[in-house]
Amino acid sequence: MTDAPATAAAEIAGPVPLSLPVLELRRVNAAYGPFRALFDVSLSVGEGETVALLGRNGAGKTTVARVASGLVEPTEGEVMVDGNDFTKARAHRYAKAGVVHVPEGRAVFPDFSVEENLTLAFSRTRDRAEVREALGRAFELFPPIAHRRRQIAGTLSGGEQRMLAMARVLVETPRLLIADELSLGLAPIVTDEVYAVLTRIRAAGTALLIVEQHIGHALALCDRAILLDHGAITWQGPSDEAARAVGASLFDTSGDSKS
Ligand SMILES: Nc1ncnc2c1ncn2[C@@H]1O[C@H](COP(=O)(O)OP(=O)(O)O)[C@@H](O)[C@H]1O
Ligand SMILES: [Mg+2]
Repeated sequence: MTDAPATAAAEIAGPVPLSLPVLELRRVNAAYGPFRALFDVSLSVGEGETVALLGRNGAGKTTVARVASGLVEPTEGEVMVDGNDFTKARAHRYAKAGVVHVPEGRAVFPDFSVEENLTLAFSRTRDRAEVREALGRAFELFPPIAHRRRQIAGTLSGGEQRMLAMARVLVETPRLLIADELSLGLAPIVTDEVYAVLTRIRAAGTALLIVEQHIGHALALCDRAILLDHGAITWQGPSDEAARAVGASLFDTSGDSKS
């Protein structure tokens, strides 16, 4: 029986998953020049799944987010999107495949108005009529910035700037949203608002990879958590076991409104 070992292997591996993960990193190493930032990182985000990527400042979270959206090419390992090899693909191909990234910090042009920021982002892939349509949808999705469409982005509050950054990538429902430290520097009540937006995005079927240093909000939302330390994964598991696995003291939770 030539197929007997294969059958046995399938039984050991468990049932075949219904769909391929949206995103998969396989044994990824990454570096900035001579500095190695990621060591053998393997992770996946399934269709519609919400995964939190947690770790201290400098752990390599942003580097994972960059690798997962085509901004940093791994030195070793593979990146798969919907089962296709994206290891060498650039960011625009990820975006086309529905993998979008809200980078950490100020992701907007501070001297341009809200509407100009959105128009710039949308014009890259759309003609003029489509840009108008996308603007309408963005303002529908994010009412707080609709009221401020003529305001210079640099004068928006921190929370409004995060919403503008999200509006740039969310007009088309993405397959996967990678959100890097959305809560950084925000007042707790504003963080609540930003996470309310994430909850809506998740409900629409988008998978989420939520990068956070402050664990409260991320753990409340996620199905699964991954802990990163010194560029390597030290733990992965269901969200309700994550807090214990980390030991909350490892993290600065001062940005969390719930504790
Ligand atoms: N552009 C860069 N050039 C050189 N080193 C970098 C760069 N970006 C990040 N690093 C270094 O890589 C490590 C991981 O950084 P990062 O991925 O930003 O961590 P985190 O997001 O968890 O704070 C840190 O030691 C950081 O100093
Ligand atoms: Mg970071």
